[in-house]
Amino acid sequence: MTTVKPPNPLNIGTELFRFRRFKASSLLLNFPSRSLSCKATMSSAISSHVRRMVESFDPSIPLQEAATPPSCWYTEPSFLDVELERVFYRGWQAVGYAEQIDNPKEYFTGRLGSVEFVVCRDATGKLHAYHNVCRHHASLLASGCGKKSCFVCPYHGWTYGLDGTLLKATRSAGLRDFNVNEFGLIPINVASWGPFILINLDKDTVPDQKGVSSEALGNEWLGRNSSQILGGSSIIGFNSSLKHVRRRQYTIECNWKVYCDNYLDGGYHVPYAHGGLASALNLDSYSITNFDKVSIQSCESTPAVGGGFHRLGSKALYAFVYPNFMINRYGPWLDTNLVLPLTHRKCLVTFDYFLEDSLKDDEDFIERSLEESERVQIEDIALCEGVQKGLESPAYCTGRYAPTVEKAMHHFHSLLHHSLIGG
Ligand code: FES
Ligand SMILES: [Fe+2]
Repeated sequence: MTTVKPPNPLNIGTELFRFRRFKASSLLLNFPSRSLSCKATMSSAISSHVRRMVESFDPSIPLQEAATPPSCWYTEPSFLDVELERVFYRGWQAVGYAEQIDNPKEYFTGRLGSVEFVVCRDATGKLHAYHNVCRHHASLLASGCGKKSCFVCPYHGWTYGLDGTLLKATRSAGLRDFNVNEFGLIPINVASWGPFILINLDKDTVPDQKGVSSEALGNEWLGRNSSQILGGSSIIGFNSSLKHVRRRQYTIECNWKVYCDNYLDGGYHVPYAHGGLASALNLDSYSITNFDKVSIQSCESTPAVGGGFHRLGSKALYAFVYPNFMINRYGPWLDTNLVLPLTHRKCLVTFDYFLEDSLKDDEDFIERSLEESERVQIEDIALCEGVQKGLESPAYCTGRYAPTVEKAMHHFHSLLHHSLIGG
């Protein structure tokens, strides 16, 4: 296998990584780090109750003999609290893609667990991310996405530069012991890898403002050999000829892992739940490969009927990036699915569709493809919401894996167990 680099439209490793130290007074904020939290619900030690839940799944048991994680992993609010702290608030998390903030002064906002964030480029094009919370009385600062030369709080007008500096504290005359330099926006580690924007809420990850190399970042995010797995020249790789054409979001009444499990069952449910999709795939060709933090499922498709419309091309590839990001490549399409927990029994799934540049004006092709994708998605939502109800039933505790198809799911559960128990 040759070494390949991910596409680097944003000059990874030189510009894009910034971590600002902040003063002791800032540490009193609700920062979701293991050592900085002032939220009573966020403690660095997990309770014996949660520990027992985590330990009730044993990743050392071979897949053929293993039971799936117990239903409490999917139904207990306290389990999600620990997942947030030990999975989502640590390490690199995909939150968007570079095209959203191609130009200076562009920004987008988002929420990860209880963390409200804003990612932006300043006037020089440098990438930043901040907690999207005003330092006056905690109003959310920016909303949605767009272009701004500064962030003006909608509540009382405090104004922040795109570099996070507090530029104006309105009505501050008479205020004592107030240093504007200590009231800038709280920074978040941010970087891009290929076309993806990542944030990292773990303050310990980057101890200073120095950048990290693309390879080091990729290896942290994806595990070893990241470039070969997902880089620009790899079979699933994102290249500059792909253009964003649509975003769709779905709020689903299920634990975030139910959605991931459904994705990771090796096509097991396809013939039963997706009649249309099943006819386009040669399920006998299904293959599954687990890497460090990535698993890839691939499947050849059947020839297009009558040489007509066929959105899948010759092969479909489904890459799962632990814990919650999916990259799907089929024909001229690439789509990503980001799964975010909203509550212990509700998640938000964001689909971003990218298409080969040469087809981006073919409205008919785009609409038919997206309709087909939407149909599959609606079928999956029904499955996932049904599973959540079943998990909440007293009749169910654990299940089993189908060894030939569900090994990526077992890998996911094992990684999660490691994150949760690892400290
Ligand atoms: S909360 Fe932002 S200015 Fe008051
Ligand atoms: Fe499905």
